[in-house]
Amino acid sequence: MNRYEGRRVLVTGAGSGIGQATTLRMLAEGGRIVAADMSADGLADTVAKAGAAADRLHTVILNISDEASVKAGVADALAFLGGLDALVNAAGILRSSHTHDTTLDAFEQVLRVNLVGTFLMIRETIPALRTGNGPAVVNFSSTSAQFAHPYMAAYAASKGGVQSMTHALAAEYSTDGIRFNSVQPGSISSGMTDGSGQSKQNAGPGLPEDANFALFAKLSPALGQGFAGPEAVASVVAMLASDDASFVTGTEVRIDGGTHY
Ligand SMILES: NC(=O)c1ccc[n+]([C@@H]2O[C@H](COP(=O)([O-])OP(=O)(O)OC[C@H]3O[C@@H](n4cnc5c(N)ncnc54)[C@H](O)[C@@H]3O)[C@@H](O)[C@H]2O)c1
Repeated sequence: MNRYEGRRVLVTGAGSGIGQATTLRMLAEGGRIVAADMSADGLADTVAKAGAAADRLHTVILNISDEASVKAGVADALAFLGGLDALVNAAGILRSSHTHDTTLDAFEQVLRVNLVGTFLMIRETIPALRTGNGPAVVNFSSTSAQFAHPYMAAYAASKGGVQSMTHALAAEYSTDGIRFNSVQPGSISSGMTDGSGQSKQNAGPGLPEDANFALFAKLSPALGQGFAGPEAVASVVAMLASDDASFVTGTEVRIDGGTHY
């Protein structure tokens, strides 16, 4: 499949996990991609994995939660791409704690990165998307937006916000032809869930030491394959951001191996 031949895409969170897998998938399908992340090591890893396709790949170090950084990073990306056809907002953080122990700073940081950061990226790229070809945005919600995941109140709130915002944007920019959808991954191995990725230093503390694992009983993948790799999400993102999904907007796709049906 060469759905991305001539297609110009900006992917955040592209230095690890699902964002990296999405970048590699779109490159493999012929795309011209800007991989953005706050981790220089992560981006170097993505470039190394791109191999010969790296000549269609440009990297940008940016912090999606910082307005000035987003403005500079998007300008750099657009200069390389010469326009924009799709935006993938995969960058995000997970923090877990008892809610009664969660500081205001910690709560706000999760909202600031996952929700406000997604808004900043969208606001900054809409002028370019308006003149793009088959423009599409894929946001990252989570199964935690609609199902109970303990110890992750801020994360769940941020991902519920992304889901709602995606619906509003789909309506607002429908007359510009820009499609907005979100994915809701769950049980995907990545830097975020197993601490193995380039974002390790950014992963924050895991579950509380006294976490009650019985509360996670409902969260096992039904397909019996355990956690899936990030490619399981990248393939769906690649579909949603391509013209294959030209009649799909204002909705979400859950990718969790049946964990929540
Ligand atoms: N892995 C899962 O099971 C799962 C489930 C639901 C949702 N998600 C979502 O998928 C997306 C990708 O996560 P992943 O699982 O691949 O995790 P990951 O930790 O492997 O990748 C996240 C990437 O985002 C980058 N990042 C974090 N904060 C940033 C910032 N402020 N600016 C720029 N880059 C930043 C990190 O450096 C990292 O490279 C996230 O939005 C996450 O919330 C993942």
